[in-house]
Amino acid sequence: MIVLKSDEELKLMRRAGMIVAQAHQLVRDNVRPGVSTGELNQMVEDFLVGQGAIPAFKGYHGYPATICASVDEVVVHGIPDFDKKLDEGSIIGVDIGAFVDGFCGDSAWTYAVGAIDDDAQRLLQVTEGALYQGIEAAVVGNRLGDISHAIQTFVEEAGFSVVRDFVGHGIGRVMHEDLQIPNFGPPGRGVRLKPGMTLALEPMVNAGAYHVEVLPDHWTVKTKDRSLSAHFEHTIAVTENGPEILTRL
Ligand code: MF3
Ligand code: CO
Repeated sequence: MIVLKSDEELKLMRRAGMIVAQAHQLVRDNVRPGVSTGELNQMVEDFLVGQGAIPAFKGYHGYPATICASVDEVVVHGIPDFDKKLDEGSIIGVDIGAFVDGFCGDSAWTYAVGAIDDDAQRLLQVTEGALYQGIEAAVVGNRLGDISHAIQTFVEEAGFSVVRDFVGHGIGRVMHEDLQIPNFGPPGRGVRLKPGMTLALEPMVNAGAYHVEVLPDHWTVKTKDRSLSAHFEHTIAVTENGPEILTRL
């Protein structure tokens, strides 16, 4: 069932989104060579709990941490670790979800660790750009497939590939509501977008081929060819006035 949110519910979604955005600001300010992914996880958890928010990932199907920290060829769901210190030149995808007053915000961003090379920089720009292409397509009257298609086209024109195995999703009182949003596919298909829909759009883009594999820890997802991968995600609302980004300061 697709849950349309009332204005009152959207207000609560905005608050959840704002706290997640603030948590990302904290990460942005602390990503640097030498910091461990475990420390980043601890900072975010302390911040969220201090705000009265509930980390959305911890305990979700047994996931052990508050953030996902996905370094270089890790696509998504990297488990934070105090022994995993960041190296200059790496990229790190940080995914954060939180419940505030019963509603969920979910957002991922990929950060540069110190100075990164031009290829990595371009991967970040293209993946972020793909997210915004998807958001721009999230207008009333368009179909779900128009979002998917906008993302795929932008990524592939840049010479990168879109991960097939993980998708965006509806979001609200639970993290994953109905509507799966692939980051690829034909335009003009799928449900029509309506005011009050709240969606988490989250392109995952590989510098090499789109194939991925899950490591024996059952969480960490890497590119099969070990090429770099980036992930950007915003929670948005479809409104009469166009898409509204909820997880932005
Ligand atoms: N943004 C991801 C998602 O929508 C994060 C989930 S990580 C998990 O599924 F650990 F909670 F699974
Ligand atoms: Co998500």
